[in-house]
Amino acid sequence: AKNVGILAMDIYFPLTCIQQEVLEAHDGASKGKYTIGLGQDCMAFCTEVEDVISMSLTVVTSLLEKYGVDPKQIGRLEVGSETVIDKSKSIKTFLMGIFEKCGNTDIEGVDSTNACYGGTAALFNCVNWVESSSWDGRYGLVVCTDSAVYAEGPARPTGGAAAIAILIGPDAPISFESKVRGSHMAHVYDFYKPNLASEYPVVDGKLSQTCYLMALDSCYKQMCNKYEKLEGKQFSLSDADYFVFHSPYNKLVQKSFARLLYDDFLRNASSIDEAAKEKLGPFSTLSGDESYKSRDLEKVTQQLAKSLYDAKVQPTTLLPKQVGNMYTASLYAAFASLIHNKNSALAGKRVILFSYGSGSSATMFSLQLREGQHPFSLSNIANVMDVARKLKSRHEFPPDKFVETMHLMEHRYGAKDFVTSKDISLLSPGTYYLTEVDSMYRRFYAKK
Ligand code: ACO
Repeated sequence: AKNVGILAMDIYFPLTCIQQEVLEAHDGASKGKYTIGLGQDCMAFCTEVEDVISMSLTVVTSLLEKYGVDPKQIGRLEVGSETVIDKSKSIKTFLMGIFEKCGNTDIEGVDSTNACYGGTAALFNCVNWVESSSWDGRYGLVVCTDSAVYAEGPARPTGGAAAIAILIGPDAPISFESKVRGSHMAHVYDFYKPNLASEYPVVDGKLSQTCYLMALDSCYKQMCNKYEKLEGKQFSLSDADYFVFHSPYNKLVQKSFARLLYDDFLRNASSIDEAAKEKLGPFSTLSGDESYKSRDLEKVTQQLAKSLYDAKVQPTTLLPKQVGNMYTASLYAAFASLIHNKNSALAGKRVILFSYGSGSSATMFSLQLREGQHPFSLSNIANVMDVARKLKSRHEFPPDKFVETMHLMEHRYGAKDFVTSKDISLLSPGTYYLTEVDSMYRRFYAKK
């Protein structure tokens, strides 16, 4: 199989949301902390009728319908998620309902979990399968689904929720440059979920920021090394048209791109002009540790990177700023934003993606884009995802209703023997929703 990669995508996020400006005031944070300090505009969240299973049922059904893919044509289905509803039964098995109806139970793959990285692991599994000798000619399907919720406190505004479905096959408009890739995996306690009775993570915010940047540096270095071995020339920021980051909140994305500029400076790469060299000179002798802590370095690199950021990163930021951190779906929602903003103009471009999952596991990898053939074309992917309409049809909750929803969800997490309100007035037609969890913890869903 040649040019294996992404043929089609669709995204679903709950239409219920809260404006960050409103949350900021409600939380008593200083004005601008969430909107400018974190760089976030709005945050989506599930109410009691939605969860990671209903969202993935919605997005998979929608992708198959809108691209006219017969469910029998799926040979592998992989789910990435860090939202635990069941410690044994995979989310993938819930999705099998869609395929069993059509007589297709011959589908490999289960769930992958490691914080926000599970989606990338699932994606690589599907691409590898299509490239392997066990491929049977059918499509792979990847689903990233998460509900990111935090306890009250400084991490709460960095929540979000979404599910993304990605169809994998040969002759794709978005193909993998599989040799241009670098990973960084390490044992750290930056963000983890040891309390199985709660949906909320334990998070060391400051440490998680540094771990993210350290993984970014390390992946970039590995990827550059591999590129140089392959191409016989140095890689720099000039060699890719767009950079897409896992986006817990936008400020970290701004800092990450600026960090890559600093990495290019340290590597003496061609992307750094004389004026920038002069400004960065004083920072050339900092130790790694010092460089992560230096506010001056952060300021100087962000200023120097500003125009490149606007060109190569800003078009990827719409959904992560509007929906929030979607954990496994976050990176792919950023990529979806790029397709939404640029669609056909992306033909011939190289896009670098950085996936980070706390704990930690991270990979930087490269995609090559072509227009492709309908229905698997960049312009049709943008049409199907219909991001602008979805964003416009949202319902803003006031803070007290948001907090009330979070309390109810805490109560419901891991619970049995309840029926939901079945108030589906805020859902779009075609959306799946939770109706009941019975005395055996079995979950039941219906479609609006
Ligand atoms: N106006 C403008 N900016 C402001 C204001 C204001 N009124 N008040 C604060 N800020 C700025 C701060 O200066 C800071 O920016 P800086 O980093 O450039 O200095 C930013 O807003 C955030 O303020 P902090 O005081 O650093 O925020 P706090 O420590 O309260 O929380 C954090 C931030 C750590 C990100 C928290 O939300 C968190 O723990 N989130 C979850 C963990 C996370 O997302 N980690 C990222 C990688 S791991 C993952 O993906 C889960």
